[in-house]
Amino acid sequence: MRILLIGGGGREHALAWKIAQSPSVEALFAAPGNPGIARHAVCVPLAADALDGLLAFARRERIDLTVVGPEAPLVAGLADRFAEAGLAVFGPVAQAAAIEGSKAFAKGLMERHEIPTARFATFAAAAPARRYCRERGAPLVIKADGLAGGKGAIVCRTLPEADEAIGECLERKAFGVAGSTVVVEEFLVGEEVSFFALANGNDVLPLAAAEDHKTVFDGDRGPNTGGMGAHSPVASFDAAMERRVMETIVRPTIAALAKEGAPYRGVLYVGLMLTAEGPKVLEFNCRFGDPECQALLVRAPGDLVPLLVAAAHGGSWPEVGGWPARASVCVSLASGGYPGKYRTGMTIDGVEAAEARPGVRVFHAGTALRDGRLVTEGGRVLGVTAVGDDLATAIARAYGAIGEIRFEGMHYRSDIGRRRSA
Ligand code: AMP
Ligand code: GLY
Repeated sequence: MRILLIGGGGREHALAWKIAQSPSVEALFAAPGNPGIARHAVCVPLAADALDGLLAFARRERIDLTVVGPEAPLVAGLADRFAEAGLAVFGPVAQAAAIEGSKAFAKGLMERHEIPTARFATFAAAAPARRYCRERGAPLVIKADGLAGGKGAIVCRTLPEADEAIGECLERKAFGVAGSTVVVEEFLVGEEVSFFALANGNDVLPLAAAEDHKTVFDGDRGPNTGGMGAHSPVASFDAAMERRVMETIVRPTIAALAKEGAPYRGVLYVGLMLTAEGPKVLEFNCRFGDPECQALLVRAPGDLVPLLVAAAHGGSWPEVGGWPARASVCVSLASGGYPGKYRTGMTIDGVEAAEARPGVRVFHAGTALRDGRLVTEGGRVLGVTAVGDDLATAIARAYGAIGEIRFEGMHYRSDIGRRRSA
């Protein structure tokens, strides 16, 4: 099989590593890829959002399956364009990807189909949004409707903060058109978990849960980032909770999309709050999480490719073994200053020594090769990932490996996987 992987971050490096192990793969290409991905795939210099170029490439190279890492090309209609050309895609069509691309759409879908989520209302004008906030009272969460690079949800502890957030979105257009509609949402209390399931249009297959660590500093302090680390599994998310989430959230969501004419093919990322009233949806994403994907794939059983094919083609699921009891952790190594401004081009040392350690993989997120040297190229630079028989072993292995790696300004959280709940 000839596979094209779209994207060039840590999530896609983990996907490339896992896909390349499949005996069914005859050729693997990545667009645009990165120096880590280049160890498993032929990288082609096409951006993840260059739909015309990607389609032409897939046709020319007779690609059997295109696996899409990031959300933007899916929301922009990549899967629709490829389907028109008769090409199979792991990832939903635009109308189904709207589950991530428009929070107002996702909330409306959940309301129509009674899928548990925070109470909410949607507004395009500031005055009625502010009135609604007064009716409900703080704390509240104000969310920009469209894609905002993970920065579109503002937790507001007081009404003045909510007024300010509404002003940022609707009056000062801080998120551009993505914020021209806002969702005002009830603040949920509980433990946050990311759960992943595959869907083939009608049927679903549970994968596993992971826990992201979003803030930049230890102890969940500081500004939000794309994700400073993740671990899997999640102790509080047991088999009974998984069944409950499958029956009350995942199956109804996939059925709802099919019923509304947008069958969902790909991976559904369910951002959950485990509240006292049960699991509720914080958000849906139409792709794997980054860095959750890295933590998931290093502990995933068996061959991933037949699962991706079944999701893309709408066929039945191949036999998969249960997920092994082993645990994993992925720690992001970030550039100095991230998630604010940072410099790039710093020389990276020690990746090989880190990877020589047992159970460790170093996934490249924001790296480049300059004159044969590996250098930093993004905010999140590397995802040091380790598996072990238990979480404590995985954590010790990951942090041991990090001790081998150096670049100027490097920083990371030292408490990934060590939350009370873990
Ligand atoms: P989202 O982009 O919708 O996942 O929101 C980003 C982050 O904001 C989440 O990971 C939560 O930590 C927080 N958040 C979002 N919605 C809520 C909510 N309704 N109640 C409490 N926290 C929330
Ligand atoms: N780690 C959060 C995300 O991928 O959206």
